[in-house]
Amino acid sequence: MSARKILVTNALPYANGPIHMGHLLGYIQADIWVRAMRAMGHDVIYVCADDAHGTAIMLRAEANGITPEQQIANVQKEHERDFAGFGISFDHYDSTHSETNKLRSEDIYIKNRDVGNIVVRPVTQLFDPEKQMFLSDRFIKGTCPKCDAEDQYGDSCEVCGTTYNATELKNPRSTLSGATPIEKSSDHYFFKLPNFSQYLQQWTRDSGRLPVSIANKLDEWFEAGLTDWDISRDAPYFGFEIPDAPNKYFYVWVDAPIGYMSSFENYIKAQRPELSFDEYWNKDSKHEVYHFIGKDIVYFHALFWPAMLDGAGYRTPTGLFVNGFLTVNGQKMSKSRGTFIKAETYLEHLNPEYLRYYFASKLSDKVEDSDLNLDDFIQKVNSDLVGKVVNIASRCAKFINKDFNNTLSENCAEPGLVQSFIDARVSISKAYEDREFSAAIREIMALADRANQYIDEKKPWALAKVAGNEQQVHEVCSVGINLFRQLAVYLSPVIPKLANEVQTFLKLEQFDFASAQTILVNHQIAQFQPLMQRVDKKAVDAMVDASKDSLAVEAPKVEKKKAKVVEQKVELKAGEADPITIDDFVKIDLRVAQVLQADFVEGSDKLLQLTLDVGETESRNVFSGIRSQYAPEDLIGKLVVMVANLAPRKMRFGISNGMVLCAGNDQGLYIISPESGAKPGDKVS
Ligand code: 2FM
Ligand code: ZN
Repeated sequence: MSARKILVTNALPYANGPIHMGHLLGYIQADIWVRAMRAMGHDVIYVCADDAHGTAIMLRAEANGITPEQQIANVQKEHERDFAGFGISFDHYDSTHSETNKLRSEDIYIKNRDVGNIVVRPVTQLFDPEKQMFLSDRFIKGTCPKCDAEDQYGDSCEVCGTTYNATELKNPRSTLSGATPIEKSSDHYFFKLPNFSQYLQQWTRDSGRLPVSIANKLDEWFEAGLTDWDISRDAPYFGFEIPDAPNKYFYVWVDAPIGYMSSFENYIKAQRPELSFDEYWNKDSKHEVYHFIGKDIVYFHALFWPAMLDGAGYRTPTGLFVNGFLTVNGQKMSKSRGTFIKAETYLEHLNPEYLRYYFASKLSDKVEDSDLNLDDFIQKVNSDLVGKVVNIASRCAKFINKDFNNTLSENCAEPGLVQSFIDARVSISKAYEDREFSAAIREIMALADRANQYIDEKKPWALAKVAGNEQQVHEVCSVGINLFRQLAVYLSPVIPKLANEVQTFLKLEQFDFASAQTILVNHQIAQFQPLMQRVDKKAVDAMVDASKDSLAVEAPKVEKKKAKVVEQKVELKAGEADPITIDDFVKIDLRVAQVLQADFVEGSDKLLQLTLDVGETESRNVFSGIRSQYAPEDLIGKLVVMVANLAPRKMRFGISNGMVLCAGNDQGLYIISPESGAKPGDKVS
């Protein structure tokens, strides 16, 4: 079979935040697949890049007091460091903010424009007169036009669930400046997605293109009807200007996937000049292209992306491999619980190969969420990798090293057993290729059990105590080392660092699947070195603690920078808005309250329902939008500060009788808590 030529990409991470465990699930999944396909002899090119454009990155740079270029360069360094730390074997890592990507984006746009896939029409949007920019929905808040709930975003109401246009909000305000936005019209460029309706319906049903569950979901969108896609944003915007459209920029989701192509192009230019871009991207290319993505970005990859490519005369991806989300200990990652674990923090405490193994043991080709249960993680890694796999080598190697001059026996005493391990290559390779990693791991661990069983039965340590058994000890341990070698080769896509050490220990030139079809006899090995330590629970606890700490250290940093901006705003506003008097202020009855109970609210992913003791005979019921940041159980007993005389507010879920005070920034919300000693009902002034 000749080697297949395959291009693999991972979703491009935004250049405005750190890589965390949730990201790593997708990168580790893709990397295992890439390494497995390489181990099977295929020619796999694996590229990625930072997704560097958009308003969020522009504003983050502004908040950090640096240029967007500096911002994306800093973050890219951190991302590359973290990916290297986890052994992600990209051939090339780029940025969407590159000249190559600019040219390719222009090319794809112009080709689509010239065949009639672009239309221009005016759009009226809210505009921040202070920041002099149009506001997307998430930068606008106001009162819901339907139920009058306050503080709702520009697209939908958290309380009554109504969706609306931002222009319909009552009392809208810009979350960037606090200014009242005005309505303003400007020309927008649209990609005529409905032109591709039939094409996409077929495309998404082509065999192997998408998981069936996702294709079914897409059918709902087809039934609802595709609409034109707004691909332009007005200045100021950090991105590429649209050709022949001054001050109009490509929306970040236009040039982001094109980054797959340009990263590949920069790679071949720099490192594989024998390859041509067209060979991979021409309409009639025979090579394969796969994108590993999260389920949240299917819409972009299964509709806009193939349509843009097809419209411009390029080939489309062979397949999309879609992964679910990650929970930690059964829940959404949370900073307060210390389960929002950054890649960097993990690497300070634990061996990356533990995580790679754990994820592999959980992953299948299904679009299912995965849970990183930290107790299970410790148990599984210790029992499988340390207890089963590494143990085989440490039990056998010492005899070969000490008593047999580092050389394996001349004959294989159990050729059938070793051959059965070699033959497992077929099903294990298939499981890897099908992304059924958990099945591959189960099969490898079943082999490890058999290897240990063999050694337990033969008991080389007991044999060695009796003179005359030397040859048998030699043969048993040589079989053990052969079985260990097969396991290490099969695990090499998952734990490449350990596999590398095994390769050195076994003094082997090659460590791919094909080279492992021989039995090692009369073969010299090196001195055995301990290969992997057990996972130390203390290190896991320290990592969780440090993840809590990292929030405490980070938050003031951001707040300080934000505070500066707010201060300026206050000064500016002092002349414009009426200041409040002390009499106004004392109207607010701020009280210390204690959380008696905290619960999730069914139907809301933002709210928690709190039962508060405010020193009154009856407790208070308050709905608070802090679910993303706090687990109910972490709140019970906590002292908080509340506005006790806020008029009761009727919400979809019940009546809210007060408001809990929080500090907030773009990283999250932080409850304001009095020092211990304060009692429920104490006045706050
Ligand atoms: O959702 C995200 O994190 C995006 N930055 C992914 C982009 S993938 C590709 F299309 F560029
Ligand atoms: Zn509402």
